[in-house]
Amino acid sequence: MRTALIAGNWKMNGSLALVERFAQAFVETRLPAGVEVALMVPSPYLDAARGAFGGTPVATGAQTLHPESNGAFTGEVSGAMLAELGARYVLVGHSERRSLFHEDDAAVLARVKAALVADLTPVLCVGESLEEREADRTEAVVLGQVTAVLDALEPAERERLVIAYEPVWAIGTGKTATPEQAQAVHAVIRSRLREYDATLAEGMRLLYGGSMKAANAAELLVQPDIDGGLVGGASLKVDDFLAICQSAG
Ligand code: G3P
Repeated sequence: MRTALIAGNWKMNGSLALVERFAQAFVETRLPAGVEVALMVPSPYLDAARGAFGGTPVATGAQTLHPESNGAFTGEVSGAMLAELGARYVLVGHSERRSLFHEDDAAVLARVKAALVADLTPVLCVGESLEEREADRTEAVVLGQVTAVLDALEPAERERLVIAYEPVWAIGTGKTATPEQAQAVHAVIRSRLREYDATLAEGMRLLYGGSMKAANAAELLVQPDIDGGLVGGASLKVDDFLAICQSAG
């Protein structure tokens, strides 16, 4: 009953030429029915991506936003600006934002709220470090990040979120969580969602991210609580990304 979502996160990579290459591939390739596909491109490419992907089923998204809608915040971009450029999704709380840009749970929550105000779908990223996993704190860390946001939202706002579980130790390392490890954390998140509301839990899409590639996507995506992927490195290669999309069909 949940529509799979495969989202690519280009991070600070790509070019206008790459946007064009993907657009051509999306036109020439039949994406599987019943799978939503989105690319979170760097903000300067959003407008081009909207134009290039027009006529294809692929949506665009951004990778961060500022919590305020405007003001003296040199270098920042608001949700309204992203929406104006056609973005449908925005990543919030990606581990690189948390660690490199010091975004704590309060900063993540402010951005989720700003995304909702701008009518964007926030993709809330959560995940534990290797140290935390080895200390047996995976569940506490992940549920802490999830509840820091969900506790502060109204029920109708919660329903508008997508959650991406991205174990930090699997991001960009080539080390993927096993399907069993990923499924176990997704199941824990979903059962926490049930404490808010059963319908919320059944409807919310939980994506897995962390070295997802063509070779391992199918075994991850077949897990009952994994509803899609958030793909970094492999989303920069047309063939790899398309193969992952096909695995979700
Ligand atoms: O947001 C996607 C991500 O952080 C995973 O990156 O390169 O491990 O697929 P990668």
